[in-house]
Amino acid sequence: MNYLTVPLHTSHKKKDFNCGKKLLDDYLHTQAKQDVKRKLAACFVLPDENNKIKGYFTLSSTSINRNFLTEAVLKKLPPAYYHLPATLLGRLAIDNSYKGQGLGELLLVEALRKSYEISQEIGSMAVIVDPIDDEAVKFYEKYGFIILKDSGKMFMAMWTIGELFG
Ligand SMILES: CC(C)(COP(=O)(O)OP(=O)(O)OC[C@H]1O[C@@H](n2cnc3c(N)ncnc32)[C@H](O)[C@@H]1OP(=O)(O)O)[C@@H](O)C(=O)NCCC(=O)NCCS
Repeated sequence: MNYLTVPLHTSHKKKDFNCGKKLLDDYLHTQAKQDVKRKLAACFVLPDENNKIKGYFTLSSTSINRNFLTEAVLKKLPPAYYHLPATLLGRLAIDNSYKGQGLGELLLVEALRKSYEISQEIGSMAVIVDPIDDEAVKFYEKYGFIILKDSGKMFMAMWTIGELFG
């Protein structure tokens, strides 16, 4: 199955993107390209026929301190692993003119599928998201992400994601 999102490219009209959250807009306008160049993040966009960006997300490698994980997850992991490898879905946003049409869900599913595929090549035991506010927490909770205590981040185990795509 092909992806609908493509890597951010200079032909994409990133300055026109407006999701209403300044941090996420500014990131795409001014920082994403540099982060991609420096290999700090991979940035995938959903362009329309005029290369206006309908939505975007970023993925990076990360690690989770085991102290943030729940007992139920820890039970499945060997105690020797203090920092656990994971994939960070750092940002996900949909342009205001395309909200409410299922694109947020579509991009989330693409990000999870990419993360699962990557985990078959390089170990990654979860996808971590960094919700920007309480609304974003509610969006991710709807799909089964759980809050990691004391971190502000949210978690979905790769074995759960594997049940969707495996
Ligand atoms: C959150 C966001 C990505 C959702 O995108 P969207 O395309 O409007 O969402 P969808 O149309 O795919 O909706 C999918 C589901 O999420 C729900 N949803 C959408 N926005 C939501 C929000 N802000 N809070 C809670 N749930 C939300 C929808 O009701 C829908 O559920 P339903 O099918 O049961 O009705 C988008 O509103 C956005 O870009 N917000 C600003 C940036 C942001 O908060 N990003 C999140 C992570 S940092």
